[in-house]
Amino acid sequence: MSDVTVIGLGPMGSAMAATFLEAGHDVTVWNRTASKAGPLVAKGARQAERPATGELLVISQISYQALYDSLGEARLDGKTLVNLSSGTPAELREAARWVAERGGTLVTGGIMVPPPGIGQPGAYTFYSGPKEALDRHAATLEALSAVTYVGQDPGLAMMYYQAQLLMFWSALTSFMHAAALLETAGVRPTAFAPFARELHGELASDGPLGLGILGEELEAGVYPGEDNSLHMQAVGMGHVVETLRAAGLDTTVPEALHRLFARADAEGHGDEGLTAVVESIRQGTRPAP
Ligand SMILES: NC(=O)c1ccc[n+]([C@@H]2O[C@H](COP(=O)([O-])OP(=O)(O)OC[C@H]3O[C@@H](n4cnc5c(N)ncnc54)[C@H](OP(=O)(O)O)[C@@H]3O)[C@@H](O)[C@H]2O)c1
Repeated sequence: MSDVTVIGLGPMGSAMAATFLEAGHDVTVWNRTASKAGPLVAKGARQAERPATGELLVISQISYQALYDSLGEARLDGKTLVNLSSGTPAELREAARWVAERGGTLVTGGIMVPPPGIGQPGAYTFYSGPKEALDRHAATLEALSAVTYVGQDPGLAMMYYQAQLLMFWSALTSFMHAAALLETAGVRPTAFAPFARELHGELASDGPLGLGILGEELEAGVYPGEDNSLHMQAVGMGHVVETLRAAGLDTTVPEALHRLFARADAEGHGDEGLTAVVESIRQGTRPAP
């Protein structure tokens, strides 16, 4: 029997299977489109006719629905499924029940690197679900990335993963907006990039803009705004939106930020700092004031 079966051979699953092979594991692969297994078979993988093959199944597909489509009515007795696909926390919890009904155990995960990062230093994966099942296979899974266990709730790995992706996508998109704005004045994106890097360095630092300190403010519920009030920043964000619009650029995301700042201001947080917007975020979406 092979050490691991990889289900799903998109860019991620293919890189995972190749990484397991490079680490010396005996690897079986399965994919809906069987032809994608060719390059991995050439490297020494076995191709399975059915996905529910072996004891450890590592899954990387577009969604959790793909898992149901792939496994169908197969029994999963004694098998551990480690699903590293994207989904919602509710879908992951439902999938844990679905797998258990068929006799298997589901460990959920969110892997925090793109295909070339798999197996490289710095790669890590958030895992949640039954810890003993994860521990049993941790030595194999460590070929892909560091194993970061976050808790028993099967939905939790995806919440950590999505929390990271939200920051990642927001930061990258704000860089696109910033670069596009400066481009309208003839400034090349590479000329602006050093300033963007400087800002991100500050966020990563222990300084007053550091995320560690912001986290402490959120936990304490104290948002100092004497030096730079939320009201001042809400007005400034309005100017950013006007500038982008005047430059003929898309303003969807900046407008949404401005609406959030203005709402927090209108809800009485104007004299506090920017972190006070968390109070409005916690209340859920509301009509603009
Ligand atoms: N790429 C990244 O940088 C990255 C990073 C972290 C996490 N992820 C996550 O990793 C997962 C895989 O991503 P990916 O980039 O490899 O490509 P993807 O396009 O998200 O997934 C491709 C895989 O899903 C399979 N699939 C889609 N629908 C299916 C269905 N109904 N039944 C069975 N299989 C189905 C495809 O099979 P066919 O070949 O037959 O179409 C293929 O194996 C995703 O959930 C993604 O969000 C991706």
